[in-house]
Amino acid sequence: EKGGYEHFMFKEIMEQPQALRRAILPRIREGEVCFEDFGLSQDYVRAMSKVYIVACGSSYHVGMVGKYVLERLTRRPVEVALASEFRYMDPIVDGSTLVVVISQSGETLDTMAALREAKRLGAKVLSIVNVVGSSIARESDEVLYTWAGPEIAVATTKGYSTQLAVLDLLALWFARVLGTVAPEEYHTILDEMTRLPDKMERVLAERDSIQYFASHWFNHNSIFFMGRNLDYALGLEGSLKLKEISYIHSEAYASGELKHGTISLVEEGTLVVALGTYDRLFEKAMSNVVEVKARGADVLALTTESHSGEMEKTADGVMTIPDTHELLLPSLGVVPLQLFAYYVALMRGCDIDKPRNLAKSVTVE
Ligand code: F6R
Repeated sequence: EKGGYEHFMFKEIMEQPQALRRAILPRIREGEVCFEDFGLSQDYVRAMSKVYIVACGSSYHVGMVGKYVLERLTRRPVEVALASEFRYMDPIVDGSTLVVVISQSGETLDTMAALREAKRLGAKVLSIVNVVGSSIARESDEVLYTWAGPEIAVATTKGYSTQLAVLDLLALWFARVLGTVAPEEYHTILDEMTRLPDKMERVLAERDSIQYFASHWFNHNSIFFMGRNLDYALGLEGSLKLKEISYIHSEAYASGELKHGTISLVEEGTLVVALGTYDRLFEKAMSNVVEVKARGADVLALTTESHSGEMEKTADGVMTIPDTHELLLPSLGVVPLQLFAYYVALMRGCDIDKPRNLAKSVTVE
């Protein structure tokens, strides 16, 4: 059942290229995004005043990445809220707001409550869900399935990457309808999306180097993730994955916030995972690496092939992903972070598929 692997989590990490193929390829026809059974009309999209993304945990982190992608491509305001907050915050939502609910299981109680609140306020609800026929899928106005297949490990991996791919497709479709993306960029991003599964296989093929880094740092008891913009959103997921299965305290920061407090925690030997995949902010990422190195931190960096040479001069370890369109970098960048969390937990002897105190679907408040 684990496909010859020791853990479901590892099996599900390895399944991601195939899961992405299922989530992406059938939805691109003749160079256009094309959703099956989809009831949102072009008129609805043109009248949409804002998008509100609501989810919990890793699904919320997908929303954090999605905000950058949607706003960049559609120039419409996007808010992201934790479902547990949204349901009690008296959100500014009306008939022209599209509420996008993201849930792998489709059964998370807070997310379901937020969905009902959104509908009560008159919004249309579109959900991105993995489990077919789940409660959230049934109560939503529109559903886009992620087609990732059953996810057994408590820590989500292929759930996250397929949700992100579907949200990227949705952003592209909105942008096409609204005319807010240049046709050339639209086609470039779509082409790059079809290449993501193969590029992800290349990342997975480098897993031994990630295992080596894990063997070097698995004994640390506090780890920081830092990055800007898309890399910050990615860091949130890297940090959650690591803490939930390895029980190492870890936090993700927007790099610009370092000087506003966090840097007081950086001392000799602190591990900082520096995310620097985003090309246009690479120089800023480098200067933050230099800054924490100067205070004695060990730096494990994540960057693209085109920047790895430069990063290697300063960082103690570099995880590398293939170059792709900048908005798609988190789709590749999440894989080394999943693998790092996995190998660290393995070396610490943790119960990887069933971390203590956690359940696969949280059906209580
Ligand atoms: C983390 C993780 C959780 C879930 C969260 C939401 O690895 O799996 O944070 O992402 O409980 O679950 P769903 O997406 O099923 O609503």
